[in-house]
Amino acid sequence: MNREISIGLLGLGTVGSGVAKIIENHRESMQHKLGAKVSISKVLVKNLDKQRDTDLDPSVFTTSMEEILDDPSIQIIVEVMGGIEEAHDAIERALKAGKQVVTANKDVMAMYGQPLLKLADEKQCDLFYEASVAGGIPIIRTLEDGLASDRISALMGIVNGTTNYILTKMDQEGMTYDEALAKATELGYAEADPSADVDGLDAARKITILSSLAYSSAARLEDVFVRGMKEIRNGDMEIASRLGYTIKMLGTSKADEEGIEMSVEPVFMKQSHPLAGVHNEYNAVYIHGDAVGETMLYGPGAGSLPTATSVVSDIIEACRSLLLGVSGKRPHDLQYDYRVKSPELRYSQYFHRLLVEDEVGVLTKLTAIYSGSGASLRSVIQEPAEQAGKAELILLTHSISRKQHLDIMEQLEQHAEVLSHYRIEGEDTL
Ligand code: NAP
Ligand code: HSE
Repeated sequence: MNREISIGLLGLGTVGSGVAKIIENHRESMQHKLGAKVSISKVLVKNLDKQRDTDLDPSVFTTSMEEILDDPSIQIIVEVMGGIEEAHDAIERALKAGKQVVTANKDVMAMYGQPLLKLADEKQCDLFYEASVAGGIPIIRTLEDGLASDRISALMGIVNGTTNYILTKMDQEGMTYDEALAKATELGYAEADPSADVDGLDAARKITILSSLAYSSAARLEDVFVRGMKEIRNGDMEIASRLGYTIKMLGTSKADEEGIEMSVEPVFMKQSHPLAGVHNEYNAVYIHGDAVGETMLYGPGAGSLPTATSVVSDIIEACRSLLLGVSGKRPHDLQYDYRVKSPELRYSQYFHRLLVEDEVGVLTKLTAIYSGSGASLRSVIQEPAEQAGKAELILLTHSISRKQHLDIMEQLEQHAEVLSHYRIEGEDTL
């Protein structure tokens, strides 16, 4: 076969430059795998004068989206420019023009994934988005293909490289939050606006994408319960470690007949759980399937070449579909109506850290709040506080609902300062 497939690359930043490098360095093996030559014929950038570390011919660069989308010789559009509306518009126009599309954009896929996949089906083309979740880990393909035979009932994962990198560096190397965030940005892990990483929105987008796929239901971003890593207070990591936990920014998604529950928040993760050993920019997704039991995928969650590996694998898949004439033949209809689970039905153990007056009767008053809410405590620890006349109380609950936890928090605030609170994960299986 003597075919050539042309790519239009939208963006040549951290991910785009990795894509260009892999296509250049793996040219022969890609040609061997596909029986066709793959080349980047146009690249969209914002600034034509920027110095770039690339072997691409300078003539391929343009600032005109139209020049790429309207070029009939370009069969695959690779969107790695980021942002939401402009990227969404580019993907939509490419699909309407019948082009194959590959994207790493979780913002777009979390908000517009289902209509775009439907459009791709209608236009008999494909939309691939492996790099949108967990960088170099083939999690989308695992859910779509590898575990297609199973029914997934839960997944939890460290799906943001930046926050995991920051937590690791603060915990293991004593870096400050600002130093660790600056380093993550320098290494290309953080989003253009890193508040999306640290406030949990990036991970929430990824959990939404995974939930839709895992449960064949249109999960909604706005239903993800989100707490950012700024909720972690000085001293919490040290307390977690003493109690046999580590603090992780965790995305969780569970589904049963009552509906789907999704959250992203810092949690106390049992040190013996495999997710507790995931450090730096590495990600991992722990999946429970009714038949497979428990399985975990692990790998680099951000960065140029790891992410580009997923993008280029999608490009290869897009090429294969074109060459075999099967573009748009993978149906994306969802099987189940989406139903969100109410907070009364979401159960977990909780950690509460309180600052109280060190005086007679305080403990009785506080524990009465727990028993009055029907919550059973599994551990109560009192420690001296830095302030004279005060004490710190650490309370661990048995399994209670999120509603009970929120009610208890509200009542505790009338008698104590709530220093921090976390869900506890990893005590049992998923
Ligand atoms: P980036 O380094 O900021 O690169 C963005 C690229 O797109 C730059 O080349 C920029 O041009 C170009 N661009 C942006 N807006 C443009 C516009 N309006 N018109 C023309 N060109 C434009 O971003 P990135 O880190 O590669 O991320 C790209 C996408 O991949 C995002 O959706 C991100 O969430 C996703 N992603 C990133 C990672 C990661 O580890 N970084 C991992 C997984 C997914 P200039 O070069 O001229 O500025
Ligand atoms: N900012 C993202 C992260 C990039 O840190 O995980 C990968 O999606």
